[in-house]
Amino acid sequence: MFSEDFIFKRVKLVSGFSSWESPSNIALIKYWGKFDEQLPKNPSISFTLSNCKTITKIKYRPKKENEEQDFSFLFNGTEMKSFHEKISQFIKRISQYISAVNYHFFDIESHNTFPHSSGIASSASAMSSLALCFMEIEKKIDSKISKAYFLKKASFLARLGSGSASRSIEGPIVYWGDSQAYKNSSSLYGVALKEISPIFNTYRDTILIIDGNEKKVSSSKGHQLMNSNPYAENRFNQANKNMKILQEILKKGDLKGFIEIVELEALSLHAMMMTSSPSFILLHPNTLFVINEVYEYRKNTSVPICFTLDAGANIHLLYPNQYFKKVQLFISERLLKYCHLKQFINDSIGFGSKKIQL
Ligand code: PMV
Repeated sequence: MFSEDFIFKRVKLVSGFSSWESPSNIALIKYWGKFDEQLPKNPSISFTLSNCKTITKIKYRPKKENEEQDFSFLFNGTEMKSFHEKISQFIKRISQYISAVNYHFFDIESHNTFPHSSGIASSASAMSSLALCFMEIEKKIDSKISKAYFLKKASFLARLGSGSASRSIEGPIVYWGDSQAYKNSSSLYGVALKEISPIFNTYRDTILIIDGNEKKVSSSKGHQLMNSNPYAENRFNQANKNMKILQEILKKGDLKGFIEIVELEALSLHAMMMTSSPSFILLHPNTLFVINEVYEYRKNTSVPICFTLDAGANIHLLYPNQYFKKVQLFISERLLKYCHLKQFINDSIGFGSKKIQL
């Protein structure tokens, strides 16, 4: 499909409510570097999460004559300027794809199930829940929209808010970005993976909060710095190769291969930050202590646990559910001391967004 296929076809004035919840996701193969309108320089693939999610509700009505504002926005009941700007930019970007945006006013309210100050990126869940609400409104205008088109276009719109958000609409594993590994892959939207060994449906993600502060360098700035990173082309090639390797691993349930590729991807992402100009480090000393503890624990036990990282200091521990109790013990005995305010979140692989009946 092309971007043009997502341009709206009908215009109609409507009013009502729409509400969706959408989860965050954690990338196994990382997206880092973009071009044009939020298109990725390399393909990526992620586990959709379950507990870490954003719930968004939109009340919509036709705009009044001369009404200048397009929307109001409350996050956890309060107005937040930085979020307001992001939503304003998102609404502008989707205006050629969602007819309602051009003729309606939206009262938007969102909240997260995870603490806002935990340093967990919420753009994937926030933007995907918002995109789904807008798709719901579009469906009211054009009732012929099929379920498959609805999901595809929701992912397409979510991407325009935040690239990784395109992978949060469905679950349990979603790929995004043209890739030779998957014939139906697209840089415009995410696609749910079909061939998955059942072991991965049982995966847990325990997120260790190492640093509760906001990131020093935003993802947008980080993506932009890839344009001049001398290792960028090699990184994009590496991600493409890793997609193919991981495809087989996910099909066969090869946990040893999974650990190797997932940890390599996490460290490659941060290597790109360290080799950008200006260079930057988002890791915290405690991130490295935890990584060493994970290496040590894996050597001494038969637990197939691995770590991955987002664009930040927090650690995601990935492991099959059958090791849950053992890993909880490992965390409380060895890792809690490295966590900010001893915080961690137990999440697991999830099955995507849900409509909330009002
Ligand atoms: O979606 P963005 O623009 O916030 O970029 C996210 C990039 C990473 O989280 C670091 C990697 C990924 O693929 O999710």
